[in-house]
Amino acid sequence: MSAARPSSPDLPLGGDGYPAAGGVARRPAGAAESVRANRRWWDAAAPAYLAEHGADLGDVDFLWCPEGLREADAHLLGDVAGRRVLEIGCGSAPCARWLRAAGADVVALDLSAGMLARAAELNRATGLAVPLLQADAGALPLAPGSVDIACSAYGGLPFVADPAAVLAEVARVLRPGGRFVASVNHPMRWPFPDSPDPEDLRIVSSYFDRTPYVETDDAGDTVYVEHHRTVGDWVRAVVGAGLVLEDLVEPEWTPGRTQNWGQWSPERGALVPGTLILVCRA
Ligand SMILES: C[S@@+](CC[C@H](N)C(=O)[O-])C[C@H]1O[C@@H](n2cnc3c(N)ncnc32)[C@H](O)[C@@H]1O
Repeated sequence: MSAARPSSPDLPLGGDGYPAAGGVARRPAGAAESVRANRRWWDAAAPAYLAEHGADLGDVDFLWCPEGLREADAHLLGDVAGRRVLEIGCGSAPCARWLRAAGADVVALDLSAGMLARAAELNRATGLAVPLLQADAGALPLAPGSVDIACSAYGGLPFVADPAAVLAEVARVLRPGGRFVASVNHPMRWPFPDSPDPEDLRIVSSYFDRTPYVETDDAGDTVYVEHHRTVGDWVRAVVGAGLVLEDLVEPEWTPGRTQNWGQWSPERGALVPGTLILVCRA
């Protein structure tokens, strides 16, 4: 399996290298619209995202979240050696390469050809050539029961309109007793402004309002969508897919870690959770 050629970024970029939003709205956005927009956005954003975070992510490393939790310390996936592992929303695939180095038989999947192009470069540079697959998390091109472990570090789930459909796909491809672990935005982040400052810890929207955050280009076309779920929504989606929820991990900020990631910062991390990790069994 190999990555498709990235489409040339067709979104205007801002001074920070990320797609410049022509407009921002809170409005409904369906599954197809979300997938189309986010593929385009991540294709265009890949160079800026990896320039900003690539050093922190590493080339062969498994970072679960901006709080600095690493799989090498957390062992949320259990023993991976000899296991067939699927990583969903792999980006440049450092986690998949870490899994490969730990002895897993891993496939790395992402929606964005721009991200997968960088993953392919790093495959060559590191000599750890994990198979790359371009697909939507909502339609996994894998056989039923073919995977021992599925994992995702902020890959796909925060961006899909129908998480129940993704979790149903995960449940389909996992073998009975298989494991699924995924980090997502902690639902507590949603009501606050998208700022790393503790002064901005003031409620500006309802935690219960699931209306998606949508960015549009100058023509009014949707170019980025982020979806919100409450903690209860996640639990219902996991249980509804027939998975067993074994743990909900809320990582605390790693002492001494100084990197900001957008809204995540050491100052805010000391006060409120930024990441929720779903630990599930098929
Ligand atoms: C925040 S990045 C995380 C990437 C990587 N896991 C990391 O830790 O850097 C989100 C990734 O999810 C991917 N993504 C977004 N929507 C997706 C979908 N519907 N299916 C699969 N991947 C998706 C994006 O292309 C992007 O690479």
